[in-house]
Amino acid sequence: MEKKIILTYRKGNILNGCRLNLTKELVNILDLNEEKREFILEYKDKNIFLMATNNDIKEKKSVENGEIKHLTIIMKAGYEKGKNNYKISIPLQVAKMMQLDKIPMVKVKIEKNIIKITGIEKKVVNEVKEERILKREGKIYMITVKKGGSAKTFTAIQIAYFLAVIKKSKVLLISSDTSNDHLFNLLTVEEAQELSKDNNVSIDAVGKITIKKGLKQLVLSSEKKIDYKDYIIEARENLDIIPLESDIFRLTTAKEFTDYQNYMLKFPKVMKQLRKFYDYIIIDGIPVSDIDNFYTEVADKFIIPIVPDEATIRGAINLVQKIGATRIHAIMVSKYRKTAAKDEYLQMLNSWIKKTSIIYPEPVKELAQIEQLIKNKKTIFESESKYLLETQKSFIKVAKDM
Ligand SMILES: Nc1ncnc2c1ncn2[C@@H]1O[C@H](COP(=O)(O)OP(=O)(O)OP(=O)(O)O)[C@@H](O)[C@H]1O
Ligand SMILES: [Mg+2]
Repeated sequence: MEKKIILTYRKGNILNGCRLNLTKELVNILDLNEEKREFILEYKDKNIFLMATNNDIKEKKSVENGEIKHLTIIMKAGYEKGKNNYKISIPLQVAKMMQLDKIPMVKVKIEKNIIKITGIEKKVVNEVKEERILKREGKIYMITVKKGGSAKTFTAIQIAYFLAVIKKSKVLLISSDTSNDHLFNLLTVEEAQELSKDNNVSIDAVGKITIKKGLKQLVLSSEKKIDYKDYIIEARENLDIIPLESDIFRLTTAKEFTDYQNYMLKFPKVMKQLRKFYDYIIIDGIPVSDIDNFYTEVADKFIIPIVPDEATIRGAINLVQKIGATRIHAIMVSKYRKTAAKDEYLQMLNSWIKKTSIIYPEPVKELAQIEQLIKNKKTIFESESKYLLETQKSFIKVAKDM
């Protein structure tokens, strides 16, 4: 069977944990219970072997040229009482040797009461890398709908995370929203400050955040070749964000007006250049802003999150008619709470979508767990809560064919 490895990072994207959850079958083979949680972990030739403890085991470790060659240790499984879950930590040195930090998937085989764990071949890792370089002529997806608070930012973030961290593509997330929720729903202000270059993000005593160099400056200062690296904040592995200055185009002075016109002119050119560095550019839209209109023009495809009420559904249908159904990648029902009225609206939507090839996953429910995740600056893929499995499935359905 194939199993997912859970990687955890501390500040600055430094790997500090590599975990595998055990199925009931694996727990039985290792003879684990609430009181006795020791087992033997052996590492050899890029394989991990797990077995139940026995009396004649001797702990061993051999290292050659700084690389771990062979390891036998007695370890203790973690146990979550309420959930009756057992999990093991894979030593980080071993995880790195097996490249689990690059592809967090393993094959698990059972041979005569020994659990054999192998990573996905290095060859595959290289192939993935090569494919990535070849493919990079990024596609632009815009998440938009004419309605505030309909989970546009939430949707943009989950999709960007899936593509970057799970699919291992290079992703850029930008927004037309000066509140920079696309950044601050993934990082605290302190983390954003730490990860940005040249104190690009600052906050004053009353909590006002200033972005020194953002998308506006990048676009306006762009020449033939853009130097975008100073502007990005790497929020997760492979997931870059460019924030947006809060004072964007108030149009109160002549200079602001000229800047606005230049921005409009230069934006498509900058996007064309950025495509070369990224596999995907995700735009978290905010349709009340003017600049949103020309963001719409550069996007290849659209994802529309919908909170089911009559006005929003009508708005979405209008939007689809305006930009054309073939440019719509997916429509996702968001923040869904079952009521008779909502289900009636959804039926109206279903019967219409059925006639198109637009991807339409199961509704994403409004959940306290999701609210909490957003508060903790985490994505649904960084949680192990079983309540989020359905939500993960909906997002995978949308993101896997992007
Ligand atoms: N499935 C969900 N369950 C619970 N809360 C959710 C869910 N999806 C989004 N939210 C919450 O709903 C609020 C609005 O979500 P979000 O910010 O993603 O919407 P938006 O469309 O980007 O809003 P805006 O128009 O202000 O940019 C946020 O507070 C978010 O935490
Ligand atoms: Mg938003």
